[in-house]
Amino acid sequence: MRDISASVSRRAISCLRLLLLLMSVRNIVDAGVFESLSINTPLTHEIMQQAKSAGMRSYINRKVQPCDDFYGYACGNFARINPATQETVSTDFFEALNAGYQRRLRQLFRQPKLSTDSPTETRVKYFYESCLNTSALQLNQRAHVLGILKEFGGLPALEGSKWNESNFEPIEMMARLLNRFGKRTLLSVKVGPGLANSQMNRLFIGQRDDLDSSKAVVLHHSSQLIMKENLQQLLGLSESKAAETAAEIAKINLELSRGIVEPQEELPPSQMYRLRLLSDMSDSYGPRLNVTRFVQLWLNHDYLLPVYEYVESYMWQVKKILTQTPKRVLANYMLSSLLSDYEIETAASPEKQHVLCAEKTTLLFADFVDHMVYRSLEKQNPDIPGSLRQLWQELKVAFGDLLRAPSTKWLSEQTLNEALAKLKAMSFHILGSGTSDFEDYYGGLVISNADYFGNVQRLLELRAQHLREDLQRQPNPYFYADFNTSPFYVPELNRVILPASFMQHRYFFDEVYPMALKYGTVGFSLAHEMAHGFDDLSRTFDAQGNLRDWWDRNATLAFEERKQCLVEQFSGYRYNGERLPKLQLQSENIADNTGVRIAHAAYLNWLSQSSPDGETLPRMSHTPQQLFFLALGQVWCSDLLPGLRHALAISDVHAPDEVRLYAMMANFDEFAKAYECRQGAHMNPLRKCVIY
Ligand SMILES: *[C@@H]1O[C@H](CO)[C@@H](O)[C@H](O)[C@H]1NC(C)=O
Ligand SMILES: *[C@@H]1O[C@H](CO)[C@@H](O)[C@H](O)[C@H]1NC(C)=O
Ligand SMILES: *[C@@H]1O[C@H](CO)[C@@H](O)[C@H](O)[C@H]1NC(C)=O
Ligand SMILES: *[C@@H]1O[C@H](CO)[C@@H](O)[C@H](O)[C@H]1NC(C)=O
Ligand SMILES: [Zn+2]
Repeated sequence: MRDISASVSRRAISCLRLLLLLMSVRNIVDAGVFESLSINTPLTHEIMQQAKSAGMRSYINRKVQPCDDFYGYACGNFARINPATQETVSTDFFEALNAGYQRRLRQLFRQPKLSTDSPTETRVKYFYESCLNTSALQLNQRAHVLGILKEFGGLPALEGSKWNESNFEPIEMMARLLNRFGKRTLLSVKVGPGLANSQMNRLFIGQRDDLDSSKAVVLHHSSQLIMKENLQQLLGLSESKAAETAAEIAKINLELSRGIVEPQEELPPSQMYRLRLLSDMSDSYGPRLNVTRFVQLWLNHDYLLPVYEYVESYMWQVKKILTQTPKRVLANYMLSSLLSDYEIETAASPEKQHVLCAEKTTLLFADFVDHMVYRSLEKQNPDIPGSLRQLWQELKVAFGDLLRAPSTKWLSEQTLNEALAKLKAMSFHILGSGTSDFEDYYGGLVISNADYFGNVQRLLELRAQHLREDLQRQPNPYFYADFNTSPFYVPELNRVILPASFMQHRYFFDEVYPMALKYGTVGFSLAHEMAHGFDDLSRTFDAQGNLRDWWDRNATLAFEERKQCLVEQFSGYRYNGERLPKLQLQSENIADNTGVRIAHAAYLNWLSQSSPDGETLPRMSHTPQQLFFLALGQVWCSDLLPGLRHALAISDVHAPDEVRLYAMMANFDEFAKAYECRQGAHMNPLRKCVIY
């Protein structure tokens, strides 16, 4: 859900993986997964190990040598087994985890409502029910959307000559859409912890973070097609009118994206954000983009505190668009933001409708749905949260050792101490595990099992109200309204967040699998996020999540010098037949290359204190350390439609999966040791880039 506010600024979030299509549910063929097999006998253990082994082996291409091409070896058969298709444009294990999460959710929704359900649970179940009645959906959809559009003077594309231009004023419309339904049209508006003082919420205004890179033409094109379809199907516009309107909207999106700081060119927060008074901004941008008036109309009162302006070039671009675009086109653009919430397919089969409705419910009630799934997973397996917390502690110990090691001497003593303090203070949270009082948030929400579109509307109104009220509130560190399938790090909170889907065992880890798998998969994922706290974007946040440069000059210089090694290295890689762009931003590569070292060190610590007897899988001859690297490598098995590969390479902050895996291993001498790669082998080059 792109439009629902999160309490933390999204751009500042560093995650493990970008998900092109958040909610394309598909079962990855993985023989290792038996969600309902719970009988605990030696025989079932044996079956599960056999199955895991079969799953891992099925992806391995034995014709490729691990020292020549580790991705080709570990994932060589993945794309054949799980090909990307027009319907599912990318396949990988994060998606498999999400599919398992969704299956569990559907089971939970199908359970009878109980008098012991909390009021929020009852609401969410009624919401789900309202989504299942496809005849009601078809009957009510268009009338509902048209009613909402009428409230805002109607959509020019629909009203034709009846639309009265003199009643339209862009700033006022932007403010009304935000006030009423929390819609961000040209400007992003967020409330989140301040950068200099994370104890206090601040207003952030500026660049929208849901815009695709201006270079990713294929993504702009596909949004245009979706918009055209919505205009036709939701509103009944003729095909030519829908095409024309969608093209106008796409043109504005492209114009807007020309003002953004491209994802791959993001700079540290001190260079992206500016704390200013609204009146000061209005003086700069003039009456066309009078943000003072915008905020005043949104809140129904003056707002005199400073706000964070996010990306000046974007503001100028918005001003240009407001100045040059005909009112009719601007109105179509702004009002079209209302459509996506009411878009819902109706499936031919009830089973498929359950799938669609579970996805919708997840997007709209992300925080509570996480809570439901978390509780259910915890009930089934009470040990998992504790074992993840234990793993987190072990990773911290391992990272602390790495920071203190002679190879990290380049961190001068004072900077090292600050780094250790930051690491010590870093916290860990599993989404859905909070005991937050959902009634505080959803208490006033009326949900009817016979009024899906009314439910959506009332939920948006509630979110819009909370956004305004958040300005008066303290930051709530446990509230994330967005649905996430990837772990992420929040610098303002100095906290790593793990999605509830990672609580599902038997995908990545299980007590009957070798521990190498756990350290290599979820261990690596957590370590990657932990390392983000020390990457080029977030390293100047301190232990309390305040932006404060605690690096002394020598350490900063040494960091930059080490980073340049990665800059050069990645710009030398090829993907999809072309060289990757040369980028100064290295946050993801730093997190990967540090994360693998942390997870490996933690695994070695564990091995040294345990018997390695269980560290094998049937019919596999890998050593424990080889198994660790293989499990880690297979996290990155994926397939992507060829048509999207170029867009990924030139716009994602993450390098393509196969490149990420290659660099992580090629930079790590322990990998070469484990697989006995000769010096100079493709996977064991002489020059290695190491940060920590
Ligand atoms: C579905 O909605 C229609 C129209 O509102 C209504 O007549 C019907 O009773 C509903 N069906 C169920 C199973 O609730
Ligand atoms: C448009 O609205 C304005 C102000 O409400 C009104 O004065 C004007 O007559 C309207 N024009 C048309 C063509 O309806
Ligand atoms: C912006 O709007 C405010 C309040 O509506 C007004 O006082 C101010 O003069 C306007 N500034 C500009 C530059 O138009
Ligand atoms: C920084 O490095 C220079 C040159 O290597 C050295 O002389 C100086 O003492 C260092 N400063 C600190 C604070 O470590
Ligand atoms: Zn990351």
